[in-house]
Amino acid sequence: MRLRPLGRTGFTVSEIGFGAASWWGKPRFPERSALALVHAALDGGVTVFDTGASYSAGQAEPRLGRALRGRDTSNLLVATKAGTFAEGRRIGRDFTPAAIVASAERSLANLGLEALPLLQLHGPAIAELTDELLAALEGLKARGLVRALGVNSFDPAVIGYALGLPTIDVVMVDYNVLRPEREPLIARAAAAAKGVLAGMPLAMGHTGGQVTRLRGPQDLWYAARGLLRHRREVTSGARFGFLNRLPGMTGAQAALAYVLANRDVACAVMGTTRMGHLTENLAASELSLPVETLAQIRAAQAR
Ligand SMILES: NC(=O)c1ccc[n+]([C@@H]2O[C@H](COP(=O)([O-])OP(=O)(O)OC[C@H]3O[C@@H](n4cnc5c(N)ncnc54)[C@H](OP(=O)(O)O)[C@@H]3O)[C@@H](O)[C@H]2O)c1
Repeated sequence: MRLRPLGRTGFTVSEIGFGAASWWGKPRFPERSALALVHAALDGGVTVFDTGASYSAGQAEPRLGRALRGRDTSNLLVATKAGTFAEGRRIGRDFTPAAIVASAERSLANLGLEALPLLQLHGPAIAELTDELLAALEGLKARGLVRALGVNSFDPAVIGYALGLPTIDVVMVDYNVLRPEREPLIARAAAAAKGVLAGMPLAMGHTGGQVTRLRGPQDLWYAARGLLRHRREVTSGARFGFLNRLPGMTGAQAALAYVLANRDVACAVMGTTRMGHLTENLAASELSLPVETLAQIRAAQAR
Protein backbone atom coordinates (compact mmCIF):
# COMPACT_ATOMS: atom_id res chain seq x y z
CA MET A 1 0.00 0.00 0.00
CA ARG A 2 1.46 3.33 -1.04
CA LEU A 3 1.36 6.29 1.33
CA ARG A 4 0.84 10.01 0.77
CA PRO A 5 1.09 13.10 2.97
CA LEU A 6 -2.21 14.62 4.11
CA GLY A 7 -1.64 18.32 3.51
CA ARG A 8 0.06 20.02 6.44
CA THR A 9 -1.47 17.73 9.09
CA GLY A 10 1.75 15.77 9.65
CA PHE A 11 -0.17 12.54 8.88
CA THR A 12 1.05 10.23 6.16
CA VAL A 13 -1.88 8.10 5.01
CA SER A 14 -2.60 5.04 2.89
CA GLU A 15 -3.83 6.06 -0.54
CA ILE A 16 -6.83 3.74 -0.20
CA GLY A 17 -9.05 4.33 2.84
CA PHE A 18 -11.98 2.41 4.29
CA GLY A 19 -15.39 4.05 4.64
CA ALA A 20 -17.18 2.77 7.75
CA ALA A 21 -20.66 3.81 6.63
CA SER A 22 -23.88 2.82 4.87
CA TRP A 23 -24.67 -0.92 4.79
CA TRP A 24 -21.35 -1.78 6.51
CA GLY A 25 -22.55 -0.08 9.72
CA LYS A 26 -26.09 -1.43 9.80
CA PRO A 27 -27.06 -4.14 12.28
CA ARG A 28 -28.50 -6.13 9.32
CA PHE A 29 -24.91 -6.55 8.10
CA PRO A 30 -23.40 -9.14 10.45
CA GLU A 31 -20.96 -7.72 13.00
CA ARG A 32 -18.48 -10.52 12.31
CA SER A 33 -18.31 -9.68 8.58
CA ALA A 34 -18.06 -5.94 9.28
CA LEU A 35 -15.19 -6.38 11.74
CA ALA A 36 -13.41 -8.86 9.46
CA LEU A 37 -13.35 -6.23 6.69
CA VAL A 38 -11.72 -3.66 8.98
CA HIS A 39 -9.17 -6.19 10.18
CA ALA A 40 -8.34 -7.20 6.60
CA ALA A 41 -8.00 -3.53 5.67
CA LEU A 42 -5.59 -3.01 8.58
CA ASP A 43 -3.61 -6.07 7.50
CA GLY A 44 -3.54 -4.69 3.96
CA GLY A 45 -1.95 -1.44 5.11
CA VAL A 46 -5.01 0.82 5.26
CA THR A 47 -4.48 3.65 7.73
CA VAL A 48 -7.56 5.79 6.95
CA PHE A 49 -10.93 4.81 8.43
CA ASP A 50 -13.69 7.31 7.80
CA THR A 51 -16.99 7.36 9.65
CA GLY A 52 -19.51 9.84 11.05
CA ALA A 53 -21.78 10.37 14.03
CA SER A 54 -24.88 9.98 11.82
CA TYR A 55 -23.62 7.17 9.59
CA SER A 56 -25.74 4.01 9.43
CA ALA A 57 -28.32 5.65 11.74
CA GLY A 58 -25.61 6.21 14.36
CA GLN A 59 -24.46 2.57 14.31
CA ALA A 60 -21.30 2.84 12.19
CA GLU A 61 -19.12 4.83 14.58
CA PRO A 62 -19.48 2.51 17.62
CA ARG A 63 -19.05 -0.49 15.31
CA LEU A 64 -15.77 0.98 14.03
CA GLY A 65 -14.76 1.46 17.67
CA ARG A 66 -15.43 -2.24 18.33
CA ALA A 67 -13.45 -3.21 15.23
CA LEU A 68 -10.43 -1.18 16.37
CA ARG A 69 -10.54 -2.36 19.99
CA GLY A 70 -7.23 -3.97 20.96
CA ARG A 71 -5.53 -2.82 17.74
CA ASP A 72 -2.63 -0.40 17.49
CA THR A 73 -4.32 2.82 16.39
CA SER A 74 -1.30 5.06 16.87
CA ASN A 75 -0.57 5.44 13.14
CA LEU A 76 -4.20 5.51 11.96
CA LEU A 77 -6.16 8.45 10.64
CA VAL A 78 -9.52 7.62 12.19
CA ALA A 79 -11.78 10.31 10.79
CA THR A 80 -15.27 11.09 11.99
CA LYS A 81 -17.86 13.79 11.37
CA ALA A 82 -20.01 16.06 13.44
CA GLY A 83 -22.95 18.35 12.73
CA THR A 84 -25.40 15.65 11.71
CA PHE A 85 -26.94 13.04 13.98
CA ALA A 86 -29.32 10.12 13.72
CA GLU A 87 -32.82 10.86 14.94
CA GLY A 88 -34.74 7.66 14.39
CA ARG A 89 -34.84 7.25 10.60
CA ARG A 90 -34.16 10.96 10.05
CA ILE A 91 -30.82 12.78 9.99
CA GLY A 92 -30.80 15.87 12.23
CA ARG A 93 -28.42 18.80 11.90
CA ASP A 94 -26.82 20.98 14.55
CA PHE A 95 -23.70 23.03 13.90
CA THR A 96 -23.83 25.09 17.09
CA PRO A 97 -20.48 25.07 18.93
CA ALA A 98 -21.95 23.22 21.93
CA ALA A 99 -23.43 20.49 19.72
CA ILE A 100 -20.18 20.00 17.80
CA VAL A 101 -18.13 19.74 21.01
CA ALA A 102 -20.63 17.27 22.52
CA SER A 103 -20.60 15.23 19.30
CA ALA A 104 -16.78 15.08 19.31
CA GLU A 105 -16.80 13.90 22.93
CA ARG A 106 -19.35 11.15 22.10
CA SER A 107 -17.24 10.12 19.09
CA LEU A 108 -14.19 9.69 21.32
CA ALA A 109 -16.19 7.33 23.54
CA ASN A 110 -17.71 5.47 20.58
CA LEU A 111 -14.33 5.00 18.91
CA GLY A 112 -12.43 4.22 22.12
CA LEU A 113 -9.82 6.88 21.34
CA GLU A 114 -8.16 9.52 23.51
CA ALA A 115 -7.93 11.93 20.58
CA LEU A 116 -9.70 12.08 17.23
CA PRO A 117 -7.06 12.16 14.49
CA LEU A 118 -9.52 14.03 12.22
CA LEU A 119 -12.85 15.66 13.02
CA GLN A 120 -14.80 16.89 10.00
CA LEU A 121 -17.87 19.07 9.83
CA HIS A 122 -20.44 17.02 7.92
CA GLY A 123 -22.09 19.11 5.23
CA PRO A 124 -22.24 22.53 6.89
CA ALA A 125 -23.76 25.56 5.17
CA ILE A 126 -21.38 28.50 4.75
CA ALA A 127 -23.50 30.50 7.23
CA GLU A 128 -22.95 27.78 9.83
CA LEU A 129 -19.15 28.18 9.70
CA THR A 130 -19.27 30.94 12.28
CA ASP A 131 -16.32 32.42 14.19
CA GLU A 132 -17.79 30.85 17.36
CA LEU A 133 -17.82 27.41 15.77
CA LEU A 134 -14.26 27.78 14.48
CA ALA A 135 -13.13 28.88 17.96
CA ALA A 136 -14.83 25.81 19.48
CA LEU A 137 -13.00 23.58 16.98
CA GLU A 138 -9.69 25.22 17.89
CA GLY A 139 -10.63 24.64 21.53
CA LEU A 140 -10.97 20.89 20.89
CA LYS A 141 -7.50 20.92 19.34
CA ALA A 142 -6.07 22.92 22.26
CA ARG A 143 -7.54 20.37 24.72
CA GLY A 144 -5.75 17.59 22.77
CA LEU A 145 -9.07 15.95 21.85
CA VAL A 146 -8.69 16.47 18.10
CA ARG A 147 -5.53 16.50 15.96
CA ALA A 148 -6.80 17.81 12.63
CA LEU A 149 -9.97 19.54 11.49
CA GLY A 150 -11.85 19.15 8.24
CA VAL A 151 -14.94 19.94 6.23
CA ASN A 152 -16.80 17.30 4.24
CA SER A 153 -19.15 18.70 1.66
CA PHE A 154 -20.28 17.85 -1.86
CA ASP A 155 -21.11 21.52 -2.42
CA PRO A 156 -18.11 23.14 -4.16
CA ALA A 157 -19.06 26.58 -2.77
CA VAL A 158 -18.75 25.26 0.80
CA ILE A 159 -15.41 23.59 0.07
CA GLY A 160 -14.19 26.75 -1.70
CA TYR A 161 -15.10 28.78 1.39
CA ALA A 162 -13.44 26.24 3.74
CA LEU A 163 -10.18 26.56 1.77
CA GLY A 164 -9.90 30.12 3.05
CA LEU A 165 -10.26 29.12 6.71
CA PRO A 166 -6.92 28.67 8.55
CA THR A 167 -8.69 26.40 11.11
CA ILE A 168 -9.47 23.81 8.44
CA ASP A 169 -6.68 21.35 7.60
CA VAL A 170 -8.53 18.83 5.41
CA VAL A 171 -11.40 18.75 2.94
CA MET A 172 -13.34 15.69 1.83
CA VAL A 173 -14.90 16.06 -1.60
CA ASP A 174 -16.86 13.78 -3.92
CA TYR A 175 -14.32 12.88 -6.58
CA ASN A 176 -14.56 10.09 -9.12
CA VAL A 177 -14.70 9.57 -12.90
CA LEU A 178 -18.15 11.24 -12.91
CA ARG A 179 -16.83 14.38 -11.19
CA PRO A 180 -13.95 15.82 -13.26
CA GLU A 181 -15.36 19.26 -12.41
CA ARG A 182 -13.91 18.84 -8.91
CA GLU A 183 -10.35 18.95 -10.27
CA PRO A 184 -9.82 22.76 -10.13
CA LEU A 185 -11.16 22.76 -6.56
CA ILE A 186 -8.79 19.95 -5.55
CA ALA A 187 -5.86 21.84 -7.11
CA ARG A 188 -6.85 24.94 -5.12
CA ALA A 189 -7.04 22.86 -1.93
CA ALA A 190 -3.54 21.49 -2.50
CA ALA A 191 -2.22 25.00 -3.24
CA ALA A 192 -3.70 26.09 0.10
CA ALA A 193 -1.85 23.16 1.80
CA LYS A 194 -5.12 21.44 2.72
CA GLY A 195 -5.19 17.65 2.77
CA VAL A 196 -7.69 16.20 0.28
CA LEU A 197 -9.73 13.05 0.89
CA ALA A 198 -11.82 11.71 -1.99
CA GLY A 199 -15.16 10.31 -0.84
CA MET A 200 -17.34 8.21 -3.17
CA PRO A 201 -14.31 7.31 -5.36
CA LEU A 202 -16.23 4.46 -7.02
CA ALA A 203 -19.17 6.72 -7.82
CA MET A 204 -21.10 4.53 -5.36
CA GLY A 205 -20.58 1.55 -7.67
CA HIS A 206 -22.57 3.09 -10.52
CA THR A 207 -19.77 2.83 -13.09
CA GLY A 208 -19.95 -0.91 -12.37
CA GLY A 209 -23.72 -1.20 -12.91
CA GLN A 210 -24.54 -1.33 -9.18
CA VAL A 211 -28.33 -1.15 -9.76
CA THR A 212 -28.37 -4.26 -11.94
CA ARG A 213 -26.12 -6.36 -9.70
CA LEU A 214 -28.49 -7.84 -7.15
CA ARG A 215 -26.75 -10.66 -5.32
CA GLY A 216 -27.30 -9.72 -1.68
CA PRO A 217 -29.47 -7.50 0.51
CA GLN A 218 -26.85 -4.75 0.42
CA ASP A 219 -27.22 -4.59 -3.40
CA LEU A 220 -30.94 -3.90 -3.07
CA TRP A 221 -30.17 -1.16 -0.56
CA TYR A 222 -27.45 0.42 -2.73
CA ALA A 223 -29.68 0.14 -5.83
CA ALA A 224 -32.59 1.81 -4.01
CA ARG A 225 -30.30 4.59 -2.75
CA GLY A 226 -29.04 5.14 -6.30
CA LEU A 227 -32.49 5.21 -7.90
CA LEU A 228 -34.03 7.43 -5.21
CA ARG A 229 -31.20 9.88 -4.53
CA HIS A 230 -28.45 9.53 -7.13
CA ARG A 231 -30.14 9.20 -10.54
CA ARG A 232 -27.39 11.29 -12.12
CA GLU A 233 -24.71 8.76 -11.06
CA VAL A 234 -26.83 5.83 -12.24
CA THR A 235 -27.40 7.37 -15.68
CA SER A 236 -23.96 8.82 -16.30
CA GLY A 237 -22.23 5.79 -14.74
CA ALA A 238 -23.48 3.71 -17.67
CA ARG A 239 -21.15 5.67 -20.00
CA PHE A 240 -18.18 4.13 -18.17
CA GLY A 241 -19.06 0.49 -18.79
CA PHE A 242 -15.80 0.15 -20.76
CA LEU A 243 -13.89 0.36 -17.45
CA ASN A 244 -15.20 -3.12 -16.64
CA ARG A 245 -13.70 -4.65 -19.79
CA LEU A 246 -10.07 -3.51 -19.46
CA PRO A 247 -7.23 -6.00 -19.58
CA GLY A 248 -5.22 -6.32 -16.36
CA MET A 249 -7.51 -4.44 -14.01
CA THR A 250 -11.11 -4.50 -12.87
CA GLY A 251 -13.56 -1.65 -13.29
CA ALA A 252 -13.30 -0.71 -9.61
CA GLN A 253 -9.51 -0.71 -9.79
CA ALA A 254 -9.58 1.53 -12.85
CA ALA A 255 -11.99 3.91 -11.09
CA LEU A 256 -9.71 4.09 -8.05
CA ALA A 257 -6.58 4.44 -10.20
CA TYR A 258 -8.24 7.44 -11.89
CA VAL A 259 -8.77 9.15 -8.52
CA LEU A 260 -5.23 8.33 -7.38
CA ALA A 261 -3.73 9.60 -10.64
CA ASN A 262 -4.52 13.01 -9.16
CA ARG A 263 -1.47 13.63 -6.98
CA ASP A 264 -3.32 16.30 -5.00
CA VAL A 265 -5.60 13.62 -3.54
CA ALA A 266 -4.12 12.00 -0.41
CA CYS A 267 -6.56 9.11 -0.12
CA ALA A 268 -9.54 7.54 -1.91
CA VAL A 269 -11.98 6.50 0.81
CA MET A 270 -14.09 3.66 -0.61
CA GLY A 271 -16.94 1.67 0.89
CA THR A 272 -17.39 -2.08 0.59
CA THR A 273 -19.20 -4.95 2.27
CA ARG A 274 -17.38 -7.72 0.39
CA MET A 275 -13.98 -9.19 1.18
CA GLY A 276 -13.28 -9.89 -2.51
CA HIS A 277 -13.97 -6.26 -3.35
CA LEU A 278 -11.76 -5.07 -0.50
CA THR A 279 -8.83 -7.18 -1.75
CA GLU A 280 -9.37 -5.89 -5.27
CA ASN A 281 -9.58 -2.28 -4.13
CA LEU A 282 -6.45 -2.42 -1.97
CA ALA A 283 -4.50 -3.78 -4.94
CA ALA A 284 -5.45 -0.65 -6.91
CA SER A 285 -2.80 1.22 -4.93
CA GLU A 286 -0.12 -0.52 -6.97
CA LEU A 287 -1.76 0.10 -10.37
CA SER A 288 -1.34 2.96 -12.82
CA LEU A 289 -3.99 3.93 -15.28
CA PRO A 290 -2.82 3.34 -18.88
CA VAL A 291 -2.73 6.61 -20.86
CA GLU A 292 -5.20 5.24 -23.41
CA THR A 293 -7.68 4.43 -20.60
CA LEU A 294 -7.32 7.95 -19.25
CA ALA A 295 -8.05 9.26 -22.77
CA GLN A 296 -11.18 7.04 -22.94
CA ILE A 297 -12.30 8.38 -19.55
CA ARG A 298 -11.78 11.98 -20.71
CA ALA A 299 -13.79 11.26 -23.86
CA ALA A 300 -16.65 9.72 -21.83
CA GLN A 301 -16.58 12.70 -19.44
CA ALA A 302 -16.87 15.12 -22.36
CA ARG A 303 -19.98 13.36 -23.75
N1 LIG B 1 -21.74 8.59 -0.46
C1 LIG B 1 -21.77 9.67 0.31
O1 LIG B 1 -22.77 10.42 0.31
C2 LIG B 1 -20.59 10.03 1.17
C3 LIG B 1 -20.63 11.24 1.84
C4 LIG B 1 -19.53 11.62 2.63
C5 LIG B 1 -18.46 10.79 2.76
N2 LIG B 1 -18.44 9.59 2.11
C6 LIG B 1 -17.30 8.70 2.38
O2 LIG B 1 -16.95 8.00 1.21
C7 LIG B 1 -16.97 6.60 1.50
C8 LIG B 1 -17.31 5.84 0.26
O3 LIG B 1 -18.58 6.25 -0.24
P1 LIG B 1 -19.65 5.22 -0.79
O4 LIG B 1 -19.51 3.89 -0.12
O5 LIG B 1 -20.95 5.89 -0.78
O6 LIG B 1 -19.25 5.10 -2.32
P2 LIG B 1 -18.11 4.32 -3.13
O7 LIG B 1 -16.98 3.89 -2.29
O8 LIG B 1 -17.84 5.19 -4.31
O9 LIG B 1 -18.90 3.04 -3.66
C9 LIG B 1 -19.35 2.04 -2.82
C10 LIG B 1 -20.11 1.06 -3.69
O10 LIG B 1 -19.19 0.43 -4.58
C11 LIG B 1 -19.28 -0.98 -4.45
N3 LIG B 1 -17.93 -1.55 -4.57
C12 LIG B 1 -16.87 -1.40 -3.75
N4 LIG B 1 -15.80 -2.08 -4.22
C13 LIG B 1 -16.20 -2.68 -5.37
C14 LIG B 1 -15.55 -3.53 -6.30
N5 LIG B 1 -14.27 -3.88 -6.18
N6 LIG B 1 -16.28 -3.99 -7.36
C15 LIG B 1 -17.58 -3.63 -7.52
N7 LIG B 1 -18.24 -2.83 -6.67
C16 LIG B 1 -17.56 -2.35 -5.60
C17 LIG B 1 -19.86 -1.24 -3.07
O11 LIG B 1 -20.56 -2.45 -3.06
P3 LIG B 1 -20.03 -3.75 -2.23
O12 LIG B 1 -20.44 -3.49 -0.81
O13 LIG B 1 -20.73 -4.85 -2.90
O14 LIG B 1 -18.53 -3.80 -2.40
C18 LIG B 1 -20.81 -0.04 -2.90
O15 LIG B 1 -22.05 -0.29 -3.51
C19 LIG B 1 -18.04 6.45 2.60
O16 LIG B 1 -17.91 5.24 3.29
C20 LIG B 1 -17.71 7.66 3.44
O17 LIG B 1 -16.61 7.36 4.27
C21 LIG B 1 -19.48 9.21 1.31
